Amino acid sequence: MQTDGISIEARDVSKYYLSGKERFAALSHVDLRIMKGEFISVMGPSGSGKTTLLNCLSGLDRISEGTVFVNGNNIAEMSDAVISRFRAKNMGFVFQNYALLPVFSTVENVELPALIIGEKASKARQIALRTLELVGMANRAGFKPSQLSGGEQQRAAIARALVNNPEVVWADEPTGNLDTEAGRVIMELFSELNRNLAATVVVVTHDERVASYTRRTINIMDGRIVDRAGGKGR
Ligand SMILES: Nc1ncnc2c1ncn2[C@@H]1O[C@H](COP(=O)(O)OP(=O)(O)OP(=O)(O)O)[C@@H](O)[C@H]1O
Ligand SMILES: [Mg+2]
Repeated sequence: MQTDGISIEARDVSKYYLSGKERFAALSHVDLRIMKGEFISVMGPSGSGKTTLLNCLSGLDRISEGTVFVNGNNIAEMSDAVISRFRAKNMGFVFQNYALLPVFSTVENVELPALIIGEKASKARQIALRTLELVGMANRAGFKPSQLSGGEQQRAAIARALVNNPEVVWADEPTGNLDTEAGRVIMELFSELNRNLAATVVVVTHDERVASYTRRTINIMDGRIVDRAGGKGR
């Protein structure tokens, strides 16, 4: 398959949940294409399917129908073990609640994905420290997450997402727990990383200000991609 320039491609993707005898479509016949290096937001009201879309496109969750290609690889066909490794190598994740492990220091959290893909401990530490520098957190390497502000925790989480130099960074409401100023810092960091690292960055948000940092918005409503869902146009 010709994949030049295409980072993520969803073809006729649906995701169903069963509740009793009813089948509920959290995603319904989604077609979309995200190019390499794009900085994109996914917007829509609560319950519209944003998190489901992120989870299905990234292979965190299984789709019910359709195909998802990431860099030309059909992730729906991968076994759980293969997809876990594929994710660790090619994707980084940033969540609303940072999801840092509390017993580990900042640098230990950041180096974890590098250790998972088999980097030697000394190399993993070295890359983690360099990545912390990239997000302005080198001076917090030894701190535990509980000793960091919310914005700092999120920057550490972004460093963790970047440590394996991923092709795609997924962020689900990354500024949801932050005040306006800390949120601005995070979005400017994402913009800079997108420019400098050429990674594809996909940010899920229902905040117009967050979406305004990105170059394109995908709107979702009731599990379907729509032209406009109360967000800005494409
Ligand atoms: N595991 C599940 N089982 C059943 N229904 C689910 C499950 N996960 C999500 N849903 C339903 O799918 C729909 C989409 O959920 P999703 O979490 O993707 O919404 P969202 O757009 O991310 O919302 P929010 O902005 O509140 O985070 C919701 O109606 C939700 O109740
Ligand atoms: Mg969500």
